[in-house]
Amino acid sequence: MTLRHFLRDDDLTPAEQKQVLELGMAFREDRQVRQPLAGPRAVAFITDKPTLRTQVSFATGIAELGGFPMVVDGNLAQIGKRESIADTTHVLDRMVSAIVWRTFGDDRIREMAAASGVPVVNALTDGFHPCQILADLLTVAQHRGGVAALPGQVLTYVGDAANNMGNSYLLGGVTAGLHVRVGGPDGYLPDEAIVARAREIAAQTGGSVTVTTDAAEAVAGADVVATDTWVSMGAEAEAEARAQVFLPYQLDAALLAQAKPDAIVLHCLPAYRGKEITAEVIDGPQSVVFDEAENRLHAQKALLTWLLEQR
Ligand code: NVA
Repeated sequence: MTLRHFLRDDDLTPAEQKQVLELGMAFREDRQVRQPLAGPRAVAFITDKPTLRTQVSFATGIAELGGFPMVVDGNLAQIGKRESIADTTHVLDRMVSAIVWRTFGDDRIREMAAASGVPVVNALTDGFHPCQILADLLTVAQHRGGVAALPGQVLTYVGDAANNMGNSYLLGGVTAGLHVRVGGPDGYLPDEAIVARAREIAAQTGGSVTVTTDAAEAVAGADVVATDTWVSMGAEAEAEARAQVFLPYQLDAALLAQAKPDAIVLHCLPAYRGKEITAEVIDGPQSVVFDEAENRLHAQKALLTWLLEQR
C-alpha cells in the first residue's frame, strides 16, 4: 500500500478512476454505504480562494463518511507566508487523515503533497479542478446508463480552454475513454504539454483529443456540452477584454443545436447567464447542472474513501 494524492486528473489510472466512479455511483444509491472516517477522524479543508459548492460538498461528505470536517480559512492560515508549506503540512498531518486544499499555483499543492504523510486532494488550483471532473463523469454516467457507458462518449468543452476546467476535462475525460473536444479562441487553448499527455492517455483508453478554435465544429454531434466562466478566480482584471474574445464561444441555443438532440449540458457553476451560457440553455431541459453539483458530494466521498484505502 502506498500513500496517494489527487493533485491532477491523471493521478488516477483509468482502472483506478473507474473504481472511484463505481464507488461514487454506490454513494449515489446509499449515502451511508461506507464510513471510513468513523471515529470521527478529521479531514482539513483549506481554501485560499472563494468557494461554496466545494466547501459544502466536502464538509457534508466528510461528515457523512463519519468524520469531522475541519474548515480552515486560508486568509487566516496564510499558508506559505508565516512558515514554509512543508512545516504547515508536517503539523497538519499529525492530526488529520487527509488534507483538501483550494489554492492558486499548482507548485503550492505539489509542495504540500511532497511533505505530507496523509493524502492531499486538489480542490481547485489555477491548473486543474480534478474533483469537478470526477463529478462530471459521474453525471454523464448517471444520464447515460452507468460508468460502463462512459467510453466513447463525445464531450465538448467550449470557452476558456486554457483554464483549470479545460485542462481537467482533457486529462480526466480521456482517462475515462471519452472523446474530448475543446473549443476556444487563439491564446486561450491548452498548453501543448497537457494536450500531449491527454493524447498519451487516450491512446491507452480508446479516447481522443480535439483542440479547435471553431465552436460549431467542436460541438457538432457531441453527447455532452460543457462550459465554464470566462473569468476564473484570479483573472478578474481581464474580465472586460475576455468578454469580447469569448463571445463567439457562448453556449447558446444555436450552438447547442449542433450537438446530438439528447445532449446534456454541464457547467461547474457559478454560471454567468448571458456571458458563457444563456439562461435559455442553463435553465433549459438539456441542462443537468444541479445533478452535476450534487455529484460533487458523491464523487468526493468516493475519492476520499479510495485514497484512505490505499494506505
Ligand atoms: N475556472 C473557474 C472554476 C470555478 C469553479 C475558476 O477557477 O474560477
